[in-house]
Amino acid sequence: GGRVFSGIQPTGVPHLGNYLGALESWVGLQGGFSSVLYSIVDLHAITVPQDPALLRENILDMAASLLACGISPAHSIIFQQSQVSEHAELSWILGCLTSMPRLRHLPQWKMKSKDKKEGSVGLFTYPVLQAADILLYRSTHVPVGEDQVQHLELAQDVARIFNNQYGELFPIPQALLSASRRVKSLRDPASKMSKSDPQRLATVRLTDSPDDIVLKFRKAVTDFTSEVTFDPERRPGVSNLVAIHAAVSGLTAEEAVRSARGMDTAQYKLLVADAVVHKVAPIRIRAGVIWRAF
Ligand code: TYM
Repeated sequence: GGRVFSGIQPTGVPHLGNYLGALESWVGLQGGFSSVLYSIVDLHAITVPQDPALLRENILDMAASLLACGISPAHSIIFQQSQVSEHAELSWILGCLTSMPRLRHLPQWKMKSKDKKEGSVGLFTYPVLQAADILLYRSTHVPVGEDQVQHLELAQDVARIFNNQYGELFPIPQALLSASRRVKSLRDPASKMSKSDPQRLATVRLTDSPDDIVLKFRKAVTDFTSEVTFDPERRPGVSNLVAIHAAVSGLTAEEAVRSARGMDTAQYKLLVADAVVHKVAPIRIRAGVIWRAF
């Protein structure tokens, strides 16, 4: 029972944060539910300026990457959001049930509209469209990283408001968070790993070459203590490495730290890089094969 829905923006090739925070669990959820839908959300992408040709290419890149990660059309429905016009239609209806103050407090609006001085109406109502994505299929489970939790709470609120006014139609969807719900930037462990990071070395993409991955981890920002410990509050840089290592190797953070006994952080970075290469190499190879077939 239950229906899974999740979405990803067409940013080209996904990064390690997308993978560990969401895509890996997307793969695992296939088969366990009565339906599983994954959408490449191009309507969300156009809330910020896009080059049309590049966006088209990025949508294909993302589709190839999803297949390469192991998301299979035999076990889930993979589709482009804008091809299903009902997303925009339901978004309008739900927007009429959502107050402006409720949206104004959401972090994405506060962040993205701040440096542009004036954001678009689309950027403002972005979370309403996201609620429509989820509720359109009466989804029950939504696998996402931690940065999407507030958007999910909005979807829950809107579902309750609708149900109260018009009768029980929508199940209240719940977030499924993976163990590595928040992968940090390799250059600045205070911020999340993100595709739009201007520092190239901050973000590991799934199709990076092994050499590039090693370089990025070698340059990862840590601190002045050489021992490897897990203490996200006081040692965010090294703890991010431990969290990544644990996630790609199927270990707990404690086990990852134990495996680093006797190493300094410089040696540990190479161990982590190696574990990441091991995890993503098959994805990179499959993505190449799929691209050639497109
Ligand atoms: P997007 O495209 O930014 O990210 C896709 C998924 O990757 C997760 N993620 C991360 N997880 C851990 N650490 C990180 N550094 C990291 N960066 C990204 C995100 O949490 C997300 O699960 N608004 C959504 C797309 C969307 C959606 C939806 C999601 C549209 N409609 C409906 C779920 C349901 C977004 O921008 O994700």
